[in-house]
Amino acid sequence: MPTALITGASHGLGRAAARALARLGWSLIVDARGPVDLADAVHGFPHVTAIPGDVTDAKHRAQLAAAAADSLGQLDLLVNNASTLGTSPLPPLRDYDLGELRRVYETNVLAPLALVQLLAAPLAAAAGVVVNVSSDAAVEPYPGWGGYGSSKAALDQITAVLAAEEPELLCYAFDPGDMRTRMHQAAFPEEDISDRPEPEAVVPALLRLISERPPSGRYQASDLLAQSPAEVPA
Ligand SMILES: NC(=O)c1ccc[n+]([C@@H]2O[C@H](COP(=O)([O-])OP(=O)(O)OC[C@H]3O[C@@H](n4cnc5c(N)ncnc54)[C@H](OP(=O)(O)O)[C@@H]3O)[C@@H](O)[C@H]2O)c1
Repeated sequence: MPTALITGASHGLGRAAARALARLGWSLIVDARGPVDLADAVHGFPHVTAIPGDVTDAKHRAQLAAAAADSLGQLDLLVNNASTLGTSPLPPLRDYDLGELRRVYETNVLAPLALVQLLAAPLAAAAGVVVNVSSDAAVEPYPGWGGYGSSKAALDQITAVLAAEEPELLCYAFDPGDMRTRMHQAAFPEEDISDRPEPEAVVPALLRLISERPPSGRYQASDLLAQSPAEVPA
């Protein structure tokens, strides 16, 4: 039975991905800070270890790694999905509080890398996959998105360098596109976001990456969903 660790699995994309993988028979290790919502999200999953905590906390990350070590020393998939938008409404860079920016980088850049460092051996043992969830804000200079966007740009570059340094792993930066989630509502506090797709609509693109195993790189969900199977590089 393949094993995945998904961070931020109580809501949004993480929750939808965990649900899909559980249905496909995966064993899961999941986290989120809120224990009640996390327990609710994974209720009824046959093989799940839910560990409430904050990815920026080194002790919590060690607990996640210990759970992965219990899975025969092999981890097939790490999805670094937990993320913070930072201050809402999104401030321009000239006003960005640097303490807040540090928190954004701790969550969106350092924590994902720390988990890769802790889990590199069990991932390599399984010829595993790392999915770092990115954003179009990593590549587009939207006003107000400089804090979050630059953190995702850093995560993209970390993903690319990891792919070059760790040839036994597949390392993907995965841009899911807009989704109707709590984070998206926080980014557009005054807007009706009911026209954005549910995160469940993006999960088939994630499953495609995991099952078809194209070369390491940056992938957009919209491209993956538009391609026929033959078009995905083998
Ligand atoms: N929604 C979009 O339109 C959009 C677009 C582009 C990219 N993305 C990316 O997609 C991913 C998922 O976003 P989403 O929209 O699904 O977000 P979401 O609905 O806000 O869910 C975020 C999840 O992460 C958890 N989380 C947040 N901070 C955490 C921390 N420090 N430690 C552990 N868990 C934490 C949350 O639970 P707790 O709050 O209980 O911890 C929750 O389960 C993120 O990487 C985001 O940057 C989203």
